Amino acid sequence: MRKKIVAGNWKMNKNLTETGVLLSNLKINLENVSETEVIVAPTYTNLYYAFEELKETQIKVAAQNMHQAENGAYTGEISVDMLKSVGVETVILGHSERRAYFGETDQLLANKVNTALQHKMTIIFCFGEELQDRKSNTHFSVVEQQLKNGLFHINRADWKNVILAYEPVWAIGTGETASPEQAQEMHAFIRKTLANTYDQETADEVSILYGGSVKPNNAQEIFAKADVDGGLIGGASLDAENFTAIVNAI
Ligand code: PGA
Repeated sequence: MRKKIVAGNWKMNKNLTETGVLLSNLKINLENVSETEVIVAPTYTNLYYAFEELKETQIKVAAQNMHQAENGAYTGEISVDMLKSVGVETVILGHSERRAYFGETDQLLANKVNTALQHKMTIIFCFGEELQDRKSNTHFSVVEQQLKNGLFHINRADWKNVILAYEPVWAIGTGETASPEQAQEMHAFIRKTLANTYDQETADEVSILYGGSVKPNNAQEIFAKADVDGGLIGGASLDAENFTAIVNAI
């Protein structure tokens, strides 16, 4: 049975004090969550603090990115070993903001995926089409190419360390959500593509999250769809009550 997962991507929000407040509220609110895996992704400077705060809880901590090299002269970058040394075992890769604002290509992401898997990190791999792709009806092939180029070189055994996050770019931070039917249609396509490339068992075991303007008032109908296994939440994860409501919507 694949896992139900709700992950909060805090992006470049919350300083140390604000992180402390949000974490303590989440600890209280989510104390009894057991079926759903909950993950939060604060910014780099607060990862160790978050790990320490959450280590006695069920809530996991993820990084929002990492560099593909093991170490070296890459000023301003963070390595996988640095993340692991502060207790972080999960990393978001390929977020559309990384692709759009920081020039991350499929090839670069394939390298990051390799480094992360070599170190037994769990990857939340993000991908999704832009508005023009959907308008020109190429969204399925765009998504398929992103998966093929960035991820489908990995071994079957490595899929146990991969979570997929389908995030249509036109729905991120815009208040515009894919309809539950649009999400289901794409998630089913992703699972079928996985089954064709690997096998049915691999496809059935992978959790596929939906991301893009998930809020307390739309989470339930999106999560109810057969191939939607949870969500990657941006804006609404910055508020403890909203995030809790979304976790409880599963
Ligand atoms: P949003 O962001 O929920 O604010 O649309 C989702 C994401 O970027 O992961």
